[in-house]
Amino acid sequence: MAVDERIEKLYKIISDSDNIVFFGGAGVSTESGIPDFRSQDGLYMMKYKYPPETIVSHTFFREKTEEFYEFYRDKMIYEDAKPNITHYFLAKLEQIGKLKAVVTQNIDGLHQAAGSKNVIELHGSTLRNYCMSCGKKYGLDAVLKTSGVPKCECGGIIRPDVVLYEEQLSEVDIERAITAIENADVLIIGGTSLSVYPAAGFIRGFSGSSLVLINKSATSYDRNADLLINMGLGEVFGELDKRF
Ligand SMILES: NC(=O)c1ccc[n+]([C@@H]2O[C@H](COP(=O)([O-])OP(=O)(O)OC[C@H]3O[C@@H](n4cnc5c(N)ncnc54)[C@H](O)[C@@H]3O)[C@@H](O)[C@H]2O)c1
Ligand SMILES: [Zn+2]
Repeated sequence: MAVDERIEKLYKIISDSDNIVFFGGAGVSTESGIPDFRSQDGLYMMKYKYPPETIVSHTFFREKTEEFYEFYRDKMIYEDAKPNITHYFLAKLEQIGKLKAVVTQNIDGLHQAAGSKNVIELHGSTLRNYCMSCGKKYGLDAVLKTSGVPKCECGGIIRPDVVLYEEQLSEVDIERAITAIENADVLIIGGTSLSVYPAAGFIRGFSGSSLVLINKSATSYDRNADLLINMGLGEVFGELDKRF
């Protein structure tokens, strides 16, 4: 199938449905200037003492908190990043009653910044932080406008409300994501290597009519897609955005 035909097919799928769920990952935000993990210019290709998944793990956070924050401030927080066409297009689809939920592995808050309401953040958000001792909530500035290990007024360590590797996802979010996907008629998966579990496993519960997969590189789920588009999300949704 030629590219134009694929985009036309996606246009038809979206036009015909009012029960779409989008499942995405870091590739949704690369066009906002936030590097993903596994692309050519992703964080894996940059040379660090440890791979990114080691640094953003529970053990590393506990044992090398200061080093964690060094990497985290430098590579995981993008204060000035703005939503891109993919975030805006998905927000529009929700607003016109076509899209029921965005399930994201991202922690950058850009779906909400674009206006999406029902966003399930499986891995939390860098925008929320809290004290590990007293629970007091903090915004991004508590991490960004400080150096070293950020501390609460009570003396406790402030940590991001993100799910680090080795940590459990919230039960509520798991339930919401699984329910949304199970009840969806169309599932659009985009910008994710589908290699981070359990998040990537949730798409298996989909039993609707069309599974669409838009990703620049191949994934282990490609063969399950009814429509596979190996292109940048911005290119695909930029084209469709004009028509909704
Ligand atoms: N923006 C963020 O919040 C952010 C950034 C980096 C990592 N992370 C976290 O790291 C983990 C990484 O897993 P993942 O699967 O989300 O990311 P990943 O890096 O493993 O995979 C990203 C995928 O997106 C594709 N891609 C990149 N840009 C694209 C584009 N413009 N259009 C289409 N496809 C594109 C790549 O080919 C790759 O397969 C996640 O748990 C996530 O929470 C989040
Ligand atoms: Zn405190």
